[in-house]
Amino acid sequence: MDSPRLVLVVFLLLFLFLSPDSQAPSLSQQRELDYSVQDEKNALDVLNSSSYGGFDSTNNRWLNVTGFRQDDGYVWDLLPRVQERAKEQIQRSLDALQQSRSFQNTSGFPNNRPSTENAEPRTVQHALSSMDPFMDPAPLYQNVTGIFKGEWVSSRTVPGHEPPSLNLSALAPRIYYTSKNYNRNITGQSGDLRVQIDERSGGDPLPDPGLAIDVKAQLTIEDETSTGDGWELTLYGVHYPRQGGIVLSTTSEKFAGIFALPHLTLSERSFTLAQKLLNQTLGSTIHRQEMDFASVSNPWSSSPSNPSESMFPVPHCEFIVYLQQHPTEDPEIDLKAMEQELRFPTGASMPPAPSIRMSALLFSPDCGFVLESKGPPDFSPQEGLHLNGRKQESFIRIARHCILSFAAVICAQIFLLMRQMKETSTPSTRSRVSFYTISMMALGDGFACMGFMVVSILVDAAFLPLITTAFLSFLCVSFFGMKFLMDIWTVQAPERQERDRERQQERDRQNAAAAAATAQATPARTTPPPAPVITAAGADSLPLPVTARRPADSGATPVILPPDQDLGAAEAEDNAAAQTAPQTTLGSARREMSALYSKFYFLLLGILFLSLHATTWPTTLRSIYSNTLACLYLSFWIPQIHRNVIRNCRKALRWEFVIGESILRLAPIVYFYTVPDNILFIENDANAAYALIGWVWIQIWALVSQEILGPRFFVPKDWAPPAYDYHPLLREEDEEAGASMPIGFTQATADPTSPTTPRPGESKEKGKKVFDCAICTENIEVPVVPSGGGSGEGSAAIAAATIFSRRTYMVTPCRHIFHSQCLEGWMRYRLQCPICRENLPPL
Ligand SMILES: *[C@@H]1O[C@H](CO)[C@@H](O)[C@H](O)[C@H]1NC(C)=O
Ligand SMILES: *[C@@H]1O[C@H](CO)[C@@H](O)[C@H](O)[C@H]1NC(C)=O
Ligand SMILES: *[C@@H]1O[C@H](CO)[C@@H](O)[C@H](O)[C@H]1NC(C)=O
Ligand SMILES: *[C@@H]1O[C@H](CO)[C@@H](O)[C@H](O)[C@H]1NC(C)=O
Ligand SMILES: *[C@@H]1O[C@H](CO)[C@@H](O)[C@H](O)[C@H]1NC(C)=O
Ligand SMILES: *[C@@H]1O[C@H](CO)[C@@H](O)[C@H](O)[C@H]1NC(C)=O
Ligand SMILES: *[C@@H]1O[C@H](CO)[C@@H](O)[C@H](O)[C@H]1NC(C)=O
Repeated sequence: MDSPRLVLVVFLLLFLFLSPDSQAPSLSQQRELDYSVQDEKNALDVLNSSSYGGFDSTNNRWLNVTGFRQDDGYVWDLLPRVQERAKEQIQRSLDALQQSRSFQNTSGFPNNRPSTENAEPRTVQHALSSMDPFMDPAPLYQNVTGIFKGEWVSSRTVPGHEPPSLNLSALAPRIYYTSKNYNRNITGQSGDLRVQIDERSGGDPLPDPGLAIDVKAQLTIEDETSTGDGWELTLYGVHYPRQGGIVLSTTSEKFAGIFALPHLTLSERSFTLAQKLLNQTLGSTIHRQEMDFASVSNPWSSSPSNPSESMFPVPHCEFIVYLQQHPTEDPEIDLKAMEQELRFPTGASMPPAPSIRMSALLFSPDCGFVLESKGPPDFSPQEGLHLNGRKQESFIRIARHCILSFAAVICAQIFLLMRQMKETSTPSTRSRVSFYTISMMALGDGFACMGFMVVSILVDAAFLPLITTAFLSFLCVSFFGMKFLMDIWTVQAPERQERDRERQQERDRQNAAAAAATAQATPARTTPPPAPVITAAGADSLPLPVTARRPADSGATPVILPPDQDLGAAEAEDNAAAQTAPQTTLGSARREMSALYSKFYFLLLGILFLSLHATTWPTTLRSIYSNTLACLYLSFWIPQIHRNVIRNCRKALRWEFVIGESILRLAPIVYFYTVPDNILFIENDANAAYALIGWVWIQIWALVSQEILGPRFFVPKDWAPPAYDYHPLLREEDEEAGASMPIGFTQATADPTSPTTPRPGESKEKGKKVFDCAICTENIEVPVVPSGGGSGEGSAAIAAATIFSRRTYMVTPCRHIFHSQCLEGWMRYRLQCPICRENLPPL
């Protein structure tokens, strides 16, 4: 039976085992690799032999590496001004430091004490001598592995340059570019910027480990030409931990950035440190590249798709990036101890780790633009605060807290769902719950489960909490949610079948009518109208309200069983009927359920893949998508409200469930919409968050008012199918007509239909009648509209006035009257009148 599937599995396994691990490089690839290794060795020689000031375009001194030669045509005229600007940024961060230090202790900064008597304007050169890497350690994080986010603006102080027209075939002779248009060509005025920095971990010992360290950074620059989050590029460079500065560069076949990086640094000391460091690290990287069998031709490639290896190489704009970490505002904090504690937690109590702020300066020597991070002093702090972020450890700590909070939310959801399931354990109560409300919730949980699984594969650091939460969500969906859905589906199956049959008959009738219209010769078939089916789940075609004058009422008198009759016989009869009928429906329900399962998972996977695809869409489209999805998801009470209207029932779900689920399901969405530095770096949109909260709030109020004012109070009468009203307004004139006064009362005036009901007592008050409740055998006092008084506006006013007192009693279609509480309790188990065993419409 399963043989095709087995064959497929075997085939897949064979494919997995037999496919080669990695292809051996072909001859041309090997030659390509040899060429690039030779180029890199030459460039390293240049790096080794050059000295500070060896590259200076204004004095016509060039380096013999790709991109830094005179003939290459890059816009190096801009470099001195860019470097000047980078020094300004250092100066500013230093000034901020000095200000904060001068408040604390004026003697704490021996190199550069701000003194009132010596008020000469300090030059940038002066500042740089103080910024040398051997100075007193400033309150800076030494290890800035982490993620930083902010906005960029196109620089005003260093305006961009017309892009030079480069001779690409001269720059990269071994590559044939398929396009003349550059990728990452930033042409906009502003956008988002994200930097992820990775300091080296492990590896060979460094020449000056405390002073210079090699780093890798991943930039994401959003621009109008980019898709998704923006252009992604990888840069390599040097971090000076004492000074807090980082210099980074891209490297490609047309730009040997990393080999000329020391010449891009800002001082001679930085140059020497970078040269020593890179001489070693680049040398060992090239060595590994030579030794490794399956190595890439450019280990410092800046884009995920390496142009020399891709089928259709496209040129990229190259980047040189200066980052400067700002000193923390509170110099009292012992950052060193804090970093140690974050990295190797011992449980010592620590104040929360301050966030890291960085200013950034980006320069493209071939596309000729200069970008800066947005922040003071050029912009007010409200507009932007440069790049802000956290160390990876504090980030992971926060992420863990968030994941655990989400796990708690899911636990609370499971708890609420279990209580609700216990409450709705009978067919009559289950039939009130909307299938679609519960399935929307289950879809949401399934989505969370899949999302956590995907993320747990990508993020190693938080694998355990992620996978635990994914498992909890899975439990919530598959164990509780699906069970509940299956129960509801089974109970509501007859109702659906009835609807299908009606639809089929409607279609048949139309077909017959059409056939009759076209072929007059043949006599039209007539289909008998369907008999209304009343099941345990309730009738689809609900009985008319008692107050409506029933034309059939004159003849058809309900059979009234005396309460003391032998119930056992009736029950046995009932059971016999119940055993034959559901047998067939159960089988078909199971079949439908398995179809439902596949539909559910198909929908879930569809939404998941669409959402994954949406991450690459432009920002506006993406936010429209996410807002639509959130709005659709948070409409989960709408099906319940609709079902309440259609079935004219109100007590479907516990209030605890309604309020709890609303809050629990809103919480994560509101978190991402309002918390500025949320863990997923999602752009805040407070207005959308308020709109979503308001939307859920409205839905809850709709449910509340349905409970109080009746399920259909906001729907015009003829929109919904006619439904039975258990709380009719009783009229005295009805009594005379014998139409709708409850049997318990009308029997006195020789009503033949109710020989056994007792005579009610007379009420003391006017306009009230007293009946007996057969369930609790207590009295019910019922307001009655006096005859003649109820017409037009008067009766409407009375209807409004008695809206709450009418909730205390219920009148069945067979015209028996009970306390609401008593009958509702009874109807949880049985949809039959306790007196006459006539079927009751569901509540
Ligand atoms: C770097 O230059 C020195 C001489 O200054 C030379 O001895 C050494 O071999 C060179 N190293 C590399 C990797 O080229
Ligand atoms: C630049 O380096 C190449 C080898 O990488 C060499 O052939 C060429 O002569 C050098 N040019 C100058 C001006 O030194
Ligand atoms: C200021 O710094 C000096 C050392 O630089 C230290 O001796 C002195 O105690 C500090 N004073 C205060 C108030 O922190
Ligand atoms: C580009 O360089 C190639 C090879 O160096 C040369 O043949 C060609 O003429 C150059 N093209 C232009 C437009 O300068
Ligand atoms: C910096 O921190 C990261 C994250 O904890 C760690 O992997 C890396 O080894 C650290 N680097 C240094 C040089 O301490
Ligand atoms: C570069 O490294 C080599 C050894 O790999 C060393 O001999 C040379 O002195 C280094 N050059 C500089 C400038 O540090
Ligand atoms: C970048 O885009 C601008 C505007 O579209 C264009 O003028 C410029 O030539 C492009 N730069 C490069 C290097 O292609």
